Amino acid sequence: MDILLTGGFDPAERERWHVLLAAALAGALPQARLWVDDDAFDPARIAVAVVANPAPGTLQRLPGLRLVHSLWAGVDRLLADPTLPPGVPIVRMVDPAMNAAMAQTALWAVLALHRGLFAYARRQRERCWRAHAQRRADEVGVTLLGLGQMGRAVAQVLVPLGYRVAGWTLHPQPPAADGVARHAGAEALGPLLATSDIVVNLLPLTPATRGLIDARFLAALPRGAGLVNLARGAHVVEADLLAALDTGHLRDAVLDVFATEPLPPAHPFWSHPRVAVLPHAAAATDPRSASAVVARRLAAWAAGTTPARLPGFVDRGRGY
Ligand code: GLV
Repeated sequence: MDILLTGGFDPAERERWHVLLAAALAGALPQARLWVDDDAFDPARIAVAVVANPAPGTLQRLPGLRLVHSLWAGVDRLLADPTLPPGVPIVRMVDPAMNAAMAQTALWAVLALHRGLFAYARRQRERCWRAHAQRRADEVGVTLLGLGQMGRAVAQVLVPLGYRVAGWTLHPQPPAADGVARHAGAEALGPLLATSDIVVNLLPLTPATRGLIDARFLAALPRGAGLVNLARGAHVVEADLLAALDTGHLRDAVLDVFATEPLPPAHPFWSHPRVAVLPHAAAATDPRSASAVVARRLAAWAAGTTPARLPGFVDRGRGY
């Protein structure tokens, strides 16, 4: 079986993925032959593409393609390629190591917002010795937008600390005994936001969620709330967020993702006193664990598991 590793890697990154993926495949799927973009492979023989945001048009040139495995968890850019072959199933990265990384970043952000650590950092610069009123965790409403693998991993670390954790999804989700109050649908969002002190965004980017965090959304939050965006920059209307920060309605924002990445040097977020900027680093795919995930998935598929039964199978209609 011929597999192509293709995407927008820099040369060192591609070499690392190549070495680790080849090693993982050698164990899990010995009949696999792994190619990278510059190799002299026969496009018609490629059955599987392992991709990291490949250049639009890349997959169209592979007439024998039967499966696409994304190395990234979010497939919004992949699905935006109008030449993506329509019938080919796509699976996206689902890696417990990535979920753990996301949970750690979200936990840090929630603790920092709850305990006022960003405000204390500002006060330190002014040599200001002043404490704010202390709130218990159960007095803090944390709303997770999105309850996929990552949202649930974040909930698992927040619930035991006593936070009042709610989860919001576009479509109703089955109840679960995990301490997360579930809310679904557009009508449920406003009332939920009114009781949310901290919102953590982990939604997939789809036409239905693009621009969700706009002036109306932010106005629905109580004054002094905090926003943590760990999903995609396009979920947020940046001008509306800046306005909400500038009026003090929103106290702080932790932003890992942006409409334009890398964040342009002149962007106001860089120097905004109420914004913490992370360079899209909340939960990077780790090639060590992710290569093993891909190899296991491809071995299961080669052994007859249908793509729809693989973890991370992408429903193209839904967009994730
Ligand atoms: C990172 O943003 C990913 O989609 O994996």
